Amino acid sequence: MEDRIVTGELQPEDATVELSLRPTTLKQYIGQHKVKDNLSIFIQAAKMRNEPLDHVLLYGPPGLGKTTMASIIANEMGVQFRSTSGPAIERSGDLAAILSSLEAGDVLFIDEIHRLPHSVEEVLYPAMEDFFLDIVIGTGPSARSVRIDLPPFTLVGATTRAGLLTAPLRDRFGVLSRLEYYEVEDLCAIVERTAEIFDTSITKEASLEIARRSRGTPRIANRLLKRIRDISQVQGETEISFSTTQVALSMLQVDDIGLDDVDHKLLKGIIDGFQGGPVGLDTIAATVGEESQTIEDVYEPYLLQIGFIQRTPRGRVATYKAYEHFGIEIPERK
Ligand SMILES: Nc1ncnc2c1ncn2[C@@H]1O[C@H](COP(=O)(O)OP(=O)(O)OP(=O)(O)O)[C@@H](O)[C@H]1O
Ligand SMILES: [Mg+2]
Repeated sequence: MEDRIVTGELQPEDATVELSLRPTTLKQYIGQHKVKDNLSIFIQAAKMRNEPLDHVLLYGPPGLGKTTMASIIANEMGVQFRSTSGPAIERSGDLAAILSSLEAGDVLFIDEIHRLPHSVEEVLYPAMEDFFLDIVIGTGPSARSVRIDLPPFTLVGATTRAGLLTAPLRDRFGVLSRLEYYEVEDLCAIVERTAEIFDTSITKEASLEIARRSRGTPRIANRLLKRIRDISQVQGETEISFSTTQVALSMLQVDDIGLDDVDHKLLKGIIDGFQGGPVGLDTIAATVGEESQTIEDVYEPYLLQIGFIQRTPRGRVATYKAYEHFGIEIPERK
């Protein structure tokens, strides 16, 4: 799991480069046209009215550009970007300290907002709705509640698990934006942009190939490009070629469509172990030796997206597409 090259989750190797690769304006942000068009209108309108932007919830799988979009929103609004995360805010006092340090119009970004403690969440409701805090000072009989007015601000929340958000929290966002897996053309443009920032030449065929194998995820595309660039350089190439890209990707054990051995293990587990399913998530988890939650959050979403797995009331099913990918004949009774 740790060194899985095709996971959308942030890996230690990404941390150093990602900052330099982050687009800073809506115009530089490739793809996600629906989200961009929407936000662009809301941002323009808020600026015309000289008001802060409505609270925005960004959700979708890891590595699709939620944090990037959050900082772009602040940049486009011309305000400060303050960033924290659900698990980092342990007590309501922590949140109060952050909120009262904001300036009018600022963007407060809360990553993994589904992990906010419940007591903190309750303090957030009036802050989001009417820009005030109700804080209890002291304990026991001397405890009293004080109201603190806040500057109007924009909360941008991000989560990979929108389903875990409580209804009252979700309802307080004026804008709900779901980021989708990227189209190959968009990923190709992202690879080309990254190559330019790396000061590296790459052929069109090579960047397309990386795009095709990046599971719809910019973070993976950038990570693959970085690895392939190293291999290409060692080969003495002045431009990353298609053939080196293919060799490198097979060295990295990324198959034709961006699946790795973890995906293979999971799919083969269903196909060989359970005649293609349906099989319950927990049973699959036990078979491949992973946590059910990890399978559901990390392994499965892309396989569902490309139609290799289906969720049914009786469990997971491997589809004919999955059989085809492995060149396995589909059993009669399916
Ligand atoms: N639309 C885009 N155009 C260009 N690059 C992008 C785009 N979206 C994301 N990226 C690149 O992908 C990297 C990962 O994006 P980001 O960190 O914003 O993802 P995330 O959705 O916040 O992930 P996580 O769920 O792990 O927090 C960024 O460093 C950025 O370089
Ligand atoms: Mg993020």
